[in-house]
Amino acid sequence: MSMTIAKKSRGLLKNITIVITGASSGIGKSLSLALAPFKPNLVIVARREKKLQQTAYQLKKQKVKHVSIVGDVRNREDRENIIEKTLNTFGRIDVLVNNAGLGKASLFLEQPEQEIDELIETNILSLIKLTHSVLPIMKEQGEGQIINLSSTLALLPTYPFAVYCATKSAVKTFSDCIREEVREYGIRVSTVLPGPYNTEFNQVANIGRSDFKGYAVEKLVKKIIKLILKPKDNLIQPWQFIPVAWVAKISNSFKKKVTSSIAESILNAKIKTSLEPETKVEKKEEIKVLAH
Ligand SMILES: NC(=O)c1ccc[n+]([C@@H]2O[C@H](COP(=O)([O-])OP(=O)(O)OC[C@H]3O[C@@H](n4cnc5c(N)ncnc54)[C@H](OP(=O)(O)O)[C@@H]3O)[C@@H](O)[C@H]2O)c1
Repeated sequence: MSMTIAKKSRGLLKNITIVITGASSGIGKSLSLALAPFKPNLVIVARREKKLQQTAYQLKKQKVKHVSIVGDVRNREDRENIIEKTLNTFGRIDVLVNNAGLGKASLFLEQPEQEIDELIETNILSLIKLTHSVLPIMKEQGEGQIINLSSTLALLPTYPFAVYCATKSAVKTFSDCIREEVREYGIRVSTVLPGPYNTEFNQVANIGRSDFKGYAVEKLVKKIIKLILKPKDNLIQPWQFIPVAWVAKISNSFKKKVTSSIAESILNAKIKTSLEPETKVEKKEEIKVLAH
């Protein structure tokens, strides 16, 4: 974003209430911090209290009005709490960023049922339910924006990510469907489809300990801020994935080539990670202790 756009738009986001799920790391954390200079009202959500506090501390230093909520989006009471606290504190919800999510690299035939539940419940069921609760509030306000995190893997689905890809395709389809239903109430629905970015995603997906590198999130979150300032239906990032997804749509052989090369690099990363398992253990224990 150019300096001029940034300066001009600062005023536009001032006191706009933005709820961001999954703000303890990665895209959600980066987005929260990148929004700080615009002085919105921020509501940040995640399960790991200590990590979420680190985001909150950065916001406090920059004098951003914010509420941090330790919660699991899969939990109905926690979702109700997000809405109640946001309305009690700021009186409205202008933007909901459904960002909380995870992947698990696994061959489907080997995937434990518990992982399947976790992926479906977090990535799609919670997102649909939170959106379902927030839309009536936005309808009453006469405006609002829902931003749903899908993935470029929704356009280039591949193993060993079958369930993850299915959830992210569902996010895209769900967003496409509700978009036209709620447009007449002044509500915009946007889907973000990121390619591979350097966050905790790989670590959680069990492909962390490898040379499987992604892009830096800074550019992506700038684009998401632009999306809030000027809503559009879909944001595919980085831009290189736009022509790839387009050609894959019209050429099955090209799509197969791309998806099998993605599958190969994920499988290699998974094999390397399984040889050095300590990273995923660290992450799992932290969540077990701090989640409620
Ligand atoms: N990075 C990529 O390459 C990539 C590509 C395409 C799409 N995406 C999508 O982008 C979103 C953000 O991922 P990321 O890359 O930033 O990964 P990340 O660094 O692992 O962040 C995921 C965030 O979601 C939160 N979260 C997970 N389960 C949750 C739950 N049940 N309740 C509340 N919060 C939960 C995590 O916090 P706690 O663990 O503290 O709860 C964390 O803050 C995800 O939806 C992901 O699928 C990422």
